[in-house]
Amino acid sequence: MLPEPNQCCVMVTGGAGFIGSAVIRQLIADQYAAIINVDVLTYAGNESTLTKESAYPGYRHERTDIRDAGAIRELLDCYHPDAIMHLAAESHVDRSIDGPGDFINTNIHGTYNLLEAVRAEDERRATESDAPAARIRFHHISTDEVFGSLGATGLFHEDSSYQPNSPYSASKAASDHLVRAWGETFGINAVVSNCSNNYGPYQYPEKLIPVVIHQAMAGNPIPVYGKGDNIRDWLFVDDHARALVMVMSRGQSGRTYNIGGDAERTNLEVVETICRELDEISPRTEGRYSDLITFVKDRPGHDFRYAIDASRIKNELGWQPQERFETGIQRTIEWYLNNQQWVEEVGGKQSSSIRLGLGGPR
Ligand SMILES: NC(=O)c1ccc[n+]([C@@H]2O[C@H](COP(=O)([O-])OP(=O)(O)OC[C@H]3O[C@@H](n4cnc5c(N)ncnc54)[C@H](O)[C@@H]3O)[C@@H](O)[C@H]2O)c1
Repeated sequence: MLPEPNQCCVMVTGGAGFIGSAVIRQLIADQYAAIINVDVLTYAGNESTLTKESAYPGYRHERTDIRDAGAIRELLDCYHPDAIMHLAAESHVDRSIDGPGDFINTNIHGTYNLLEAVRAEDERRATESDAPAARIRFHHISTDEVFGSLGATGLFHEDSSYQPNSPYSASKAASDHLVRAWGETFGINAVVSNCSNNYGPYQYPEKLIPVVIHQAMAGNPIPVYGKGDNIRDWLFVDDHARALVMVMSRGQSGRTYNIGGDAERTNLEVVETICRELDEISPRTEGRYSDLITFVKDRPGHDFRYAIDASRIKNELGWQPQERFETGIQRTIEWYLNNQQWVEEVGGKQSSSIRLGLGGPR
C-alpha cells in the first residue's frame, strides 16, 4: 500500500515530455506531497511545458539522464520515493528507423538502470528496517505498439503476444520484458501499462496531429503516409494521465493494464477531421485545408492497425475515458492555435526538418 497522496513521494521520469507533463499536472491536482521530475531534457523535453507546475511546493526537477546508473542511484538515495512512474524514452518511430542506437540506450539500458536502482533501494530498506519495509512501486509506461499489427478485426488484450515491428516498439517491448523479469525474479513491486496513441496539448510538433495543424496553418502540403489507411486508436492525453495515476496507486503488483480510447480512426480520417475543424475556425482565403493533403512514401514496417481492449482497467480500477475524439481534437486544435509561442520555442530544438524514417539499406 502506498501512503496517502499528501504523504507520498512520486518520481516521474520524462516529466518534461508530452505525457509526463500531463501526469505531473494530474499528480498536482491530486495533491501528491512530492513530485520529482527526472528529465535530462532531450530535444523532446522542455521546461516551458511545466512553467506553472514548477511553482508547486512539492515539485522538483532533476536534470538527470536515466542512462547514468550512478546518478539514478544517487537520486533514489536522496529522495527515497514511494513510487516511480517511468515515462522517459525516445518515442518517435521515424527517428528509431534513422538511428536506433538512442532507443536501445535510453529505452532498454535506461529502464535496466532504474530497475537495478529500485532493487538496491528495496534491499537497503529491508536490511535497515526491523518491520517489513515498503517496496518502491515501479510503474513502467509502455505502448500498444509492442503487440505488432492487427488485421481488420480483433483487439489487443493484456495477454496478446509481443510482435514489435519497429526499432522503437522493439525497444519498448524489451523494456516491458525487463520489468516483468525483475518483478518475477527479484520481487520488484512492478506494474506495466500499454496505451494507444495519445493526442492533446504539449505534444512535440513532429507527431502526426501537431504536424498537420502546423502545416495546414502555414499553407504547406500536409503529408499523409501511404494511402492514409493505417488505423490507430486515439486517447486524449489527460485521460491517459488519470489512468496512469490510478494504475500507479492502485494497480495490482505484477499485472499489466491496457489503456485505450475506443476511438479508432484511419490516419486520413484524422487529417480530414482536423482540416474540417480548421475550415470552421480559421477559413483559408481560397480553397479548403483538405486541398493541401499530399500522399507521401509510406514508412517501412508501418503497422496497419492497433486497437485496445481496455476492459481490465475499466473493471478493476473504475477508469473510463472522459473526452470523446470529436471534442478532444477541437480542444487540441484550439490549444495549438493559441500556443504558437510554445510550438516555436520547442520546435527550435528539432535538429532537422527533412523527412525522417524512410530507412533502407546502409
Ligand atoms: N505518445 C504516445 O502516443 C504514447 C502512447 C503510449 C505510450 N507512450 C509512452 O509514454 C512515454 C512518454 O511518451 P511521450 O509521447 O510523452 O514522449 P516524449 O518524447 O514527448 O517525452 C519523452 C521525455 O523523456 C525525456 N527523456 C528522453 N530520454 C531521456 C533520458 N535518457 N533521461 C532522462 N529523460 C529522458 C525527454 O527529455 C522527454 O521529456 C514513453 O515511454 C512512450 O513510449 C507514448
